[in-house]
Amino acid sequence: MGSAHPIGVFDSGYGGLTILREIHRRLPDYDYLYLGDNARNPYGVRSMETVYRFTLQAVNTLFERGCNLVVLACNTASAKALRSIQQNDLPAIWQGEGRDLKRVLGVIIPSVEAMGEFSVNGHIGILATQGTVASRSYQLEAAKYHPDFKVTAEACPMWVPLVEYGEAGSDGADFFVSRHINSLLERDTDIDTILLGCTHYPLLLDKILKYVPRGIRVVAQGAIVADSLADYLTRHPELERECSKGGSMEFLTTESPEIFSEAAATFLGMPVEASQISL
Ligand code: DGL
Repeated sequence: MGSAHPIGVFDSGYGGLTILREIHRRLPDYDYLYLGDNARNPYGVRSMETVYRFTLQAVNTLFERGCNLVVLACNTASAKALRSIQQNDLPAIWQGEGRDLKRVLGVIIPSVEAMGEFSVNGHIGILATQGTVASRSYQLEAAKYHPDFKVTAEACPMWVPLVEYGEAGSDGADFFVSRHINSLLERDTDIDTILLGCTHYPLLLDKILKYVPRGIRVVAQGAIVADSLADYLTRHPELERECSKGGSMEFLTTESPEIFSEAAATFLGMPVEASQISL
């Protein structure tokens, strides 16, 4: 990347593209470097230790390639790895560099902060991976920002594989999508807002909307994270200056670059030429 300092966007696979698309729409002037760990997807079923290890490898790779700021565009990584990286790994890096200008941000806190803008009655449903649901991160953060809200989280184990294997539009996907939406809405019949708490899930949006009754709002995280990043950059001019502004977008994947490029190009509506790396 030469002397470019792109903003890094990381996910276990394709899901982070739903975040990158909105970030790029909101902040088109910056350079971006996307990394999808498609070879080791899904993360949602993996232990805390493994998700942390994989995520740290990805973050270090993005730092090595010039990023100063990395967005974990993955709820599972945000739930299971972000805190350790922020509290232990970043301070060590800052010490080594003699400055504290490398940062890692997640997607859960901005999403929880925004909940109040969407829900009228405070009954929120979260659809997410097993890992995110088991971490109870949404409930724990909601208790801080909206203590009167009732948050019910449903794990949807098959949804990420459906997206990664290109089955999001298939008839078979309907079974798994309807099953978890029905189960969530049975567990709290007053839910007025469903947050898609996994960045892969907007890639199933057509199916999701088919099974969510009218009157219930479905919220994806992309625009929320984009607004939050824009705000973060405004509040941290010393970091903002460290991000290069060439308007470029580059893509790395740990799996086949051809398959990644085709899927990403279809979703983003632009040509994509991904490179393969190993972590
Ligand atoms: N896209 C990721 C998330 O937001 C997880 C997908 C996975 O299970 O790998 O949680």
